[in-house]
Amino acid sequence: MKKKYRVAVLANLKKNALHWDGMPPDQWDDLDSEHTVLALVDAIRTGGHTCEFLEGDATLIDTIRKYKPDICFNICESHFGDAREAQVPALLEMLRIPYTGSKVLPLALALDKPMTKRILAWHDLPTPDFQTFERVDEPLHEDLRFPLFVKPAREGTGMGVSSKSIVHDEAQLREQVGFILDKYHQTALVEEFIDGREVTVGFVGNLIGPVARRLPHNLKAPRIQAGLHFFPPMEVDLQPYLETDAVYSNRLKVALADQLNYLCPAPIDDDMVDELNWLAAAVFRVVGGQDVSRIDFRLDMHDNLKPYILEINPLPGLSPGISDIVIEAAADGIEHTELVNMILNTALKRYGML
Ligand SMILES: Nc1ncnc2c1ncn2[C@@H]1O[C@H](COP(=O)(O)OP(=O)(O)O)[C@@H](O)[C@H]1O
Ligand SMILES: [Mg+2]
Repeated sequence: MKKKYRVAVLANLKKNALHWDGMPPDQWDDLDSEHTVLALVDAIRTGGHTCEFLEGDATLIDTIRKYKPDICFNICESHFGDAREAQVPALLEMLRIPYTGSKVLPLALALDKPMTKRILAWHDLPTPDFQTFERVDEPLHEDLRFPLFVKPAREGTGMGVSSKSIVHDEAQLREQVGFILDKYHQTALVEEFIDGREVTVGFVGNLIGPVARRLPHNLKAPRIQAGLHFFPPMEVDLQPYLETDAVYSNRLKVALADQLNYLCPAPIDDDMVDELNWLAAAVFRVVGGQDVSRIDFRLDMHDNLKPYILEINPLPGLSPGISDIVIEAAADGIEHTELVNMILNTALKRYGML
C-alpha cells in the first residue's frame, strides 16, 4: 500500500518579504504567491499525504520542530545572502529532515552564475565566454567581443535583465555594469551575447549509473541521462518583443508572463532535442543536482543553432499554468498536481521512503 506522509511545503511568500526605500522593484520577483503555495499543498494532499505550508524564514526553526514533517517540499529562494537558496536545506540537514530537490552545495552554486560557468567550462560544456566585474572600471578582456550581455551574478526571474542588458560598446558596458553594482549590490556578469532562440529544458528524476565526464562533441561516449524524465523543451517566442526586450527580461517574465507565446514542444528537430537533453543532464550531473531542474539555453542563430547553456535552475518556478516547467509538463500530459507528486516521489524514492 502507498505510504502516506506528513509533508511541509516550505516556500517564501512574496507578501511576507521585507520592503525598504530604494530597493529594486523586482527585488522579490522570484518569491512565491499564495496561489502557488496553496496549489502545492493541494497537490500533495491529493497525493494522499497530510500537508501544511511553513514560511521558510527564521520562524521555520520553531515551526518545523512543532509540525515535525517526515519530508519537506522545498522551494525556498530565501531573502538575503550570497547562498540564500541553500539556507533552508542547511537547516533541514542540521535537523535531519528529508527534503525535495537539490542539496546545499548545488543550490549555493547555481545561484552564483559565474561560479557555475567556471564548472561548466571545466567540463567543456558550452556556455558563453564571460568576465565578472566587481568595479565599473575593470579592463575588459580583449578576447570578449561586443555585443555583450550584462546581468547580476546571483539573481533569477530576469531580475536586472532588460533590453539595456545588451551592450554594444564600452560606454554602454560601463553604464550597465554600474547599474548592476549600484542597484543589486553584487558582481556583474558580462557574457558574450548569444543572438538566437530561447529554449528551456525541464526534467524530474535522478541520474543512475556512473559519473561520466563526457565531452559534448564525443558522440560515441555513453549517454548519462538515464533516470531523468525530460519534458518537451519549451521555446519562448520573443519575436513580438524583439524591438522592446530582445531577451527574456524581467518585464516579460513577470508583467507580461500571461501574454507570452510559449511554444511547447519547441519547434526544433529530434536531434536538437536529444542534444539539449544530454547537455541538461550533463549540467545536472556536474553541479550535483537532485530530483528536478530546468536548464536555460540560447541557440545561436549565427552558428547553426549551436546551443549555449545560460544557467541551471535547481528550484524552477512551480506556479500553475505559468511557470516554464509546468507548461512543459502539461505538454507531456502531466498536470500540475501530478508534476508536484512526481517531484515528491522522486525525493521519497531517493530517501528509501517510497
Ligand atoms: N549571454 C546571453 N546572451 C543572450 N541573452 C542572454 C544571455 N544571458 C542571458 N540572456 C537573456 O536573459 C534572460 C535571463 O538570463 P538568465 O541567465 O537565464 O537569468 P535568470 O536567472 O534571470 O533567468 C535569458 O533567458 C536570456 O533571454
Ligand atoms: Mg533563466
